[in-house]
Amino acid sequence: MQKPQRLIPAAALDSGFPAVCVVPAAGSGVRLGAGVPKPSRKIGGLPIAVRTLRMLLRSWKFEEVFMPVEPTRIAATQRLLSRHGLSGVRVIAGGRTRSESVRNAFGQVRPGKKVVLIHDVARPFLDSRHVREVLRMARKKRAALLAQRSTATVKQTSGAAPVVLRTLDRRCIYLAQTPQAFSYRLLQAGYAKNDWRPERFTDEAGMAEAAGFKVWLVEGPSSNIKITTPADLCLAKALLKAGANALK
Ligand code: CTP
Ligand code: MG
Repeated sequence: MQKPQRLIPAAALDSGFPAVCVVPAAGSGVRLGAGVPKPSRKIGGLPIAVRTLRMLLRSWKFEEVFMPVEPTRIAATQRLLSRHGLSGVRVIAGGRTRSESVRNAFGQVRPGKKVVLIHDVARPFLDSRHVREVLRMARKKRAALLAQRSTATVKQTSGAAPVVLRTLDRRCIYLAQTPQAFSYRLLQAGYAKNDWRPERFTDEAGMAEAAGFKVWLVEGPSSNIKITTPADLCLAKALLKAGANALK
C-alpha cells in the first residue's frame, strides 16, 4: 500500500511575482440548463462570472486577465463585465473544448518569465488564500493545481463493463479542481509536445503530466465547488448564506 503524499506547507513558499490569469468561460452550460449562459447566471444577485473575476482580482495583481467565451457571446460578455467595472478583462473567442479555450487564451499571453493561472469561471467560491498558494507553488515547482482529498472510496473498472477491477487507496486519491498554474515556459512546452492540440486533456495538469512534467498538489477546500447541475445552484445558495466569498 502506497503512503499518502505530504503536501508542502504554504509558509515555505515565496510571494510577489508576475502572473497572468485565464478564466475559461466558453462552455454551453448544458447540464445547468435554463437557457441562460452559465457565466451570466446570477447567484445571490450577481452573475457567476462577476463573482469569479472579482475573487481572482482581489487575490493577486495579475498583469492581464483573459476570459475565453463562446465566440457569439464576446460583445454581450464585454457589456456585462463593464457594467460591473470589469472592462479590463480581455474577452476572447473560446474553442470547442475547455482545453482549446485555454489554449486560445494562452496564445495571447506575452511570453516571459511568469506564471499562468487557469481558473474555471464555474468555481466562484474559491478564496484568495488558495489562489495565492497555487501561484506560489507554481512559481517554485513550475506546475501546480488545487485538489481535494477524496472522501469517497473509489472503484476502478475496465471502462467496458461495470465490474470492479480494484479499489484505490483513498489516502492517495485527490480530486482535481482549479486553479491550476504553470510557468509560462512549461505550459508552452506542454502544448508544443502535444502539437498545440490539447483537446484530449480535460485539464492542463493532465497535459503537463503527459508531457513528462511533475505536477504538485495544493490541498483545496470542499467549498470550491464547480457549478455544473441545478443541484449545485442549491449548494451555491447555501454556501453564500454561510458567508463563502461574501460579496456585496
Ligand atoms: N469551457 C470552456 N470552453 C468550452 C467548454 C467549457 O471554456 N468549449 C469552460 C466552462 O465555461 C467552465 C469550465 O470550462 O468554466 C468547465 O466546464 P463545465 O463545468 O463542463 O461547464 P460547461 O461546459 O459550460 O457545462 P456543460 O458541460 O454542462 O455544458
Ligand atoms: Mg462542459
